[in-house]
Formats: sequence, structure tokens, C-alpha cells
Amino acid sequence: MAFCDLSGKTIIVTGASSGIGRQAAIQISKNGGNVIISGRDKERLSGTFESLDGADHKMIAADLLNEDEINDLVSGLPKINGIVHCAGIVGPTPVKFIRKENVNKLMRINFEVPVLLTSRILLMKKLLDNSSIVFMSTVATKMPYFGGALYNSSKSAIESYSKTLALELVKKGIRSNCISPGLVNTPLIKKPVTEGQMELVDESLGRYLKKYPMGIGEPEDVSNAIIFFLADESKWISGTNLVMGGVLQ
Ligand SMILES: NC(=O)c1ccc[n+]([C@@H]2O[C@H](COP(=O)([O-])OP(=O)(O)OC[C@H]3O[C@@H](n4cnc5c(N)ncnc54)[C@H](OP(=O)(O)O)[C@@H]3O)[C@@H](O)[C@H]2O)c1
Repeated sequence: MAFCDLSGKTIIVTGASSGIGRQAAIQISKNGGNVIISGRDKERLSGTFESLDGADHKMIAADLLNEDEINDLVSGLPKINGIVHCAGIVGPTPVKFIRKENVNKLMRINFEVPVLLTSRILLMKKLLDNSSIVFMSTVATKMPYFGGALYNSSKSAIESYSKTLALELVKKGIRSNCISPGLVNTPLIKKPVTEGQMELVDESLGRYLKKYPMGIGEPEDVSNAIIFFLADESKWISGTNLVMGGVLQ
């Protein structure tokens, strides 16, 4: 059997219309797994769907900020063996400009959504025993950057949640782990900024590269780790947080 073979496993990937989630879905399919991909943008989600290897995959578009859409998404799921929570946003805001709406925006998609989606999947008994759950955090929870207070806090919250979840689910053999990458080459780091946010300019990229001399990662660098956490090869690992690309400071 090939290393990290996912044959016979069905995995849901959120944020699969772009970046890390898209690459994770493609790689799960290459490793023999079935994927249920979710995202908001139907066109980009279809693009991911068409890139998947093999048949029996499913695509469910949903805006996860809408709890009814979370519930509909979960109702449409078969029994699954894994969840990869990739939906997320950044919103660089210096602390003195933080307003309630900034807090709500970041915390909702980066913390509330994966929490509510996980609860719903568990409540509806869609997650089989011995499954694996993967959350996306960031290296910046340990090595903060200017303007990242809200983003880093939302990710610290999910790290803490994941550890508790790992404890609550251990008797069912269900594992929960976080991955905390440095900067990854996806649309997330190139998105146009909205009012009140700072641009990710060359200068800050330069500062970043000095801090993290391993450089900027590619989506497949992260999806390789996601595949490992989903596969039985990691069956003795739960409640951990894998830092990637930030080891050298
Ligand atoms: N890129 C990095 O440098 C980096 C580093 C560390 C951690 N991360 C984390 O890794 C995860 C994936 O990031 P990425 O770089 O792949 O970002 P990305 O390319 O911008 O993709 C983000 C995904 O989240 C989805 N999403 C956002 N809001 C949503 C909502 N309300 N409902 C449903 N889906 C929603 C997007 O869907 P639509 O596009 O269809 O709206 C998209 O598929 C995020 O949690 C991010 O915080 C990224």
C-alpha cells in the first residue's frame, strides 16, 4: 500500500475554491480519497471539481457565514472520515483601528464557522469513528506581525479549540490537529485590501523573509501535511499543532 493512501476515505474540504483548500482536495483525490468540496464561488469551485482525480466526488457551494447553509451542507453529507477546515480570511488592522465589525468579521469565519460546522457534523453523526479533523492556524500565533492582532487571535482560538476537541473525541479514535504555516503563495496574500487595512507591501514581505528564511511556501507544501494528518499513518497523533516554514528565526 502506498504511503498515505486515502482509498475508502471520504473527506470534506472547506475553502476548496482557492489556495490551500483547492490543493488539498486535489491531492486527496490523487491519494485515492473521495472529496466533498465546499466554497462560495461556484465557478472557482467547479474549477477545483474538474481538477479532481477519479469519480464519486461531490461539490456543495455554501456561504458558511450563514448557519442555515452550514446545516444544509451537513445534511447533504454522507458518512465521512475527515474534515479539512480551510475557509478563512485575513484582515490586517492596526490595533487602534479595530472596530466591532472587524472583530466579528475575522472571528466569525476563522473561528465560529469551523466550530459550528464541526458541532453540526458531530450532532448529525456524519463523522465515523477513527476519523481525522484538520484546522488551519498560522505560524503568526507564535511570531506575530504588525496588524495581525485579530487574525492571530482568531487562529489562537482555533488552536485551543482543536486541542479540547481532540480530548473530547479521543474515545472514538477521532483525531484533531492544527497546521500553522508561514506565508503561503495563494490568493489570500494578494487580495485587494479594503479601507482601514494595510497593504501587504514589498517592505513587509522583506521583513517576513528575514524572519522566516525558509521563504514563502506553496499550497502543496501545506497539503502534503494535510494528507499526512488525514491518513492512518498519523493515527497516533492528535491535539498537535504543526508549524511549517517558520522554524528558522
Ligand atoms: N496563505 C497563507 O499565507 C496562509 C498562511 C497560514 C494560514 N493560512 C490559512 O489557510 C486557510 C486557507 O488559506 P488560503 O491561503 O488558501 O486562502 P484563499 O486562497 O483566500 O482561500 C480561502 C477560502 O476560504 C473560503 N471562504 C472565505 N469566506 C468564506 C465563507 N464565508 N464561506 C465559505 N467559504 C469561505 C474562500 O471561498 P470563496 O473564494 O469561494 O469565497 C476560499 O475558498 C485559511 O484559514 C488561512 O487563514 C493561510
